[in-house]
Amino acid sequence: MTDATPMDPTPEGLLALAVDAARDAGALLLDRFGGPASGVDAKSTRTDLVSDADRDAEARILGAIRRARPDDRIVAEESGESTAAGGDGLTWHVDPLDGTVNYLWGIPHWCVSIQVEGPGGALAAVVFDPCRDELFTAVPDGARLNGRDLGLEPSSDLGDALVATGFGYASERRRRQAAVVARALPEVRDIRRAGSAALDLAWLAAGRVDAYYERGVSVWDWAAGAMLVAAAGGEVTELAAAGDDPMGVAAARPGLLAGLLAIVGRPA
Ligand code: IPD
Ligand code: CA
Repeated sequence: MTDATPMDPTPEGLLALAVDAARDAGALLLDRFGGPASGVDAKSTRTDLVSDADRDAEARILGAIRRARPDDRIVAEESGESTAAGGDGLTWHVDPLDGTVNYLWGIPHWCVSIQVEGPGGALAAVVFDPCRDELFTAVPDGARLNGRDLGLEPSSDLGDALVATGFGYASERRRRQAAVVARALPEVRDIRRAGSAALDLAWLAAGRVDAYYERGVSVWDWAAGAMLVAAAGGEVTELAAAGDDPMGVAAARPGLLAGLLAIVGRPA
């Protein structure tokens, strides 16, 4: 334990902290967007990139969480996991810049994603899109976009569904993902690959796409978005790892998930 007094962990208090941190990091990222990139390095493969923008945004977010909640566990994309001494058993999932390739190529579709959960489940989530000034938020009893309540209508026909997905950075994984897309494409209205898993899920919560699936995502990519979809009344499940296929996430409007899973895999 540290000497600092941790702030009260109500969902609303945690959400306020997450929103402040996401807006602060988003402002930093937007300020540099379109300028020359610095510190660009490859991570898992030569196409999986990180830059100083990702690192600096993450440092800002982690600093804000640590100041308010010094004993919480944090799992963050660029700095990994930091396990603190105790506290209330809360874990933060932080992706400071989801859609790094879009960001580096000047495509205005990327976001900051932060979720916090306790032993009883997800407590608060934010996905912030600085280019559109869109703030997606969730607490357990509801999801909002710029303060407006979100609620997903049911649907029964996968053939009508616009389905978002994404691909990993390794060739062999992409070969397998291409085979799944080839199976899905004739069965749905269309496929979207926009380049940010967190925004795919946030847009699903807002009804802009009808379903999402992807294997090989990391928890910081999907934790906030999954909470948004669930709080908006949608269905979310983890996909079981199987053979060479890593775990994944599938989510949809009520009524569509079973049909989607019949194509993309079984739940965990
Ligand atoms: C990636 C994006 C992408 C998804 C990848 C993720 P990053 O995150 O969310 O849409 O398809 O699986 O790794 O690298 O931009 O933070
Ligand atoms: Ca990510």
